[in-house]
Amino acid sequence: MSAPARILVTKRVFPEAVEFLRREFEVDYNGTDRVLPSDELIQRARGCAAVVSQLTDRLSADVIAALDGVRIIANVAVGYDNIDVAAATARSIAVTNTPGVLTETTADFAFALLMAAARRVVEAHAFVHSGQWSTWIIDLLAGQDIHGATLGIFGLGRIGAAVARRGRGFGMRILYCDDQPAPPELERELEARRVSREELLRESDFVSLHVPLTPATRHLIGAAELAMMKPSAILVNTARGPVVDEAALAEALEKRTIWAAGLDVFEDEPRVHPKLLELPNVVLAPHIASASFSTRRRMSMMAAENAAAALAGRRPPNLVNPEVWR
Ligand code: DGY
Repeated sequence: MSAPARILVTKRVFPEAVEFLRREFEVDYNGTDRVLPSDELIQRARGCAAVVSQLTDRLSADVIAALDGVRIIANVAVGYDNIDVAAATARSIAVTNTPGVLTETTADFAFALLMAAARRVVEAHAFVHSGQWSTWIIDLLAGQDIHGATLGIFGLGRIGAAVARRGRGFGMRILYCDDQPAPPELERELEARRVSREELLRESDFVSLHVPLTPATRHLIGAAELAMMKPSAILVNTARGPVVDEAALAEALEKRTIWAAGLDVFEDEPRVHPKLLELPNVVLAPHIASASFSTRRRMSMMAAENAAAALAGRRPPNLVNPEVWR
């Protein structure tokens, strides 16, 4: 009998995923939250047929070129901008992600950021906590209404549509901007109207981003776009940090070009633009939109199942480069 295939799991995941893999494979498990430097990742991947990676692993073309014998990179995330997919494809390495399981959880959090920014929940908590509350004041911590407002969604995919559904529950009007029109039944369900980028920015009270990070979406929202938004508008980003020009956003928030923002993702995580750390009108979170126990557990399992399928010669269910699997 041949020796079991070897898998590198680059970072801590939910334990059932490692238990599952250990039933059939030899697993080199970095069961810590330390990101492996590229040279260590390459060295530990020697002799491995699969790598279970996370979005903090930078799998550039150079790193991929050094992954001899690796047949699949199974990312524990729906986004895979941390992986040079073209380089993987050129070496016939399958790349997989974890779509679907995190849709509702991520949409919940996007809406939580939207509401927290609009109704100043973080400022209110700090205010009470610090003992500043002395009496009822007519405009104390007054914010923006959510119900009946216009919600503009960039990218009406799975997560964008789930956020729009939450908006509909609050009686919001939905506008969206996407390269492709949504299916007519989805547009009908959400009463959503596809508009130009400019119309969305000018009309929306809330703008929520749900596009993948690609060369075309890098700095999709910059100074010019922020200048088109209403002074009362709120920007929510749970997609990827570089979709927004963070320096331009910090300036717009400081100058009140827009009213507030709710951010879960940043251009150079875990670094946050210093101005954003000082401003009262931004709610910040450390890339946790999909972080419910059950969703992160399912993401861990899904990546493990993708890796196991590929090593068993089965097409992995969540292949992002199908051309490698013929
Ligand atoms: C993803 O899956 O891409 C998120 O950013 C982390 O859940």
